[in-house]
Amino acid sequence: MNLSTISTPSALVDEARMMRNIERMQRRMNELGVRFRPHVKTSKCIEVARRQAQAGATGITVSTLKEAEQFFKAGFNDILYAVCMAPNKLEQALALANMGCDLTIVVDSEASASAIVDKGRAAGHRFNVMIEIDTDGHRSGVQPGSDDLIRIGRILHDSGARLKGVMTHAGSSYDFNTPEALQRIAEQERRLCVQAAERLRSADLPCAEVSVGSTPTALSALNLDGVTEVRAGVYVFFDLVMSNVGVCTPGDVALSVLTTVIGHQPEKGWAIVDAGWMAMSRDRGTQKQATDYGYGAAACDLNGRLIEGFVLTGANQEHGILSRADGGITKDIAGLFPIGTQLRILPNHACATGAQFPEYHVIGGKGEVQIWERFYGW
Ligand SMILES: Cc1ncc(COP(=O)(O)O)c(C=O)c1O
Repeated sequence: MNLSTISTPSALVDEARMMRNIERMQRRMNELGVRFRPHVKTSKCIEVARRQAQAGATGITVSTLKEAEQFFKAGFNDILYAVCMAPNKLEQALALANMGCDLTIVVDSEASASAIVDKGRAAGHRFNVMIEIDTDGHRSGVQPGSDDLIRIGRILHDSGARLKGVMTHAGSSYDFNTPEALQRIAEQERRLCVQAAERLRSADLPCAEVSVGSTPTALSALNLDGVTEVRAGVYVFFDLVMSNVGVCTPGDVALSVLTTVIGHQPEKGWAIVDAGWMAMSRDRGTQKQATDYGYGAAACDLNGRLIEGFVLTGANQEHGILSRADGGITKDIAGLFPIGTQLRILPNHACATGAQFPEYHVIGGKGEVQIWERFYGW
């Protein structure tokens, strides 16, 4: 199999770039003296997670219990399900734990904590639980200085759950793009999560683990005192959002969509390709950033020749409109991109684009292509 025989659109992974990204993150974590628990929701792929583990990662983070089940089946045992626990999923979590999975679940409310201890008591099981801390107003979590934190800790600890610690995800780090601002948000994520841990310990509650992380903060933190582990996901492939944030360059992006030119509108300067939003996803994450890459940037031709200045400016379900990012009209668009030309488009958001495909076509160092499956669904 080679690139020209792969049906399009397809998700391509450049293995050498991915390995560089994996090694870069693990090296950084080793330097900072913390364990690293990759978030496998980005790739949802056993082959990718195995390479992260081989590089030195400890355990994995998942975003669905289906991921937990699939990775457990493939031999991953230490799993953090890092989305607040819904009471109606406790049965599924219990089934995993009963099969021997060292699963940790997350809460940020007294109601969920009570549901967990009730279920645990009824089933004779001690759930491993972490409390999610809100360190940047991004999404979920309890405030590090709140009474709720201590109340949730008490419910868990006093009623038989295993309170493992605190975790946070400073997702607002995506809103910054200078090293100073990224260092500040990384330090805020660290400081407030450590503060929450210290408050629990002062209340005589156990808090062995302090888990923080997003790709921008993981790569920007200067010190992680008090933190025991870091989680990051998208770094494994990187994407155009991360390039705008400033933690990678487009040349580091390991995931691309292979597409074929299927038509032209020369008077508009458009080439039409067979990667629309169904392939790229609807994620327009670069829209609010310094460089808007539309639905993705035309990265290179099959030989790796970079094509500067062209992006997918529009997308229908199975049609992408490739044109100049600066609005200019390339009259000889058909000469530049003849019908049948294959191109690689870099994604705005690797997690969202990867999720459109059942498998990756992985390009090795000598141009050989392998197929790696990925999971989908819940
Ligand atoms: C709870 C949690 N931890 C870690 C991450 C990893 O963040 P990133 O993909 O920026 O590395 C995410 C991503 O959404 C997350 O939700």
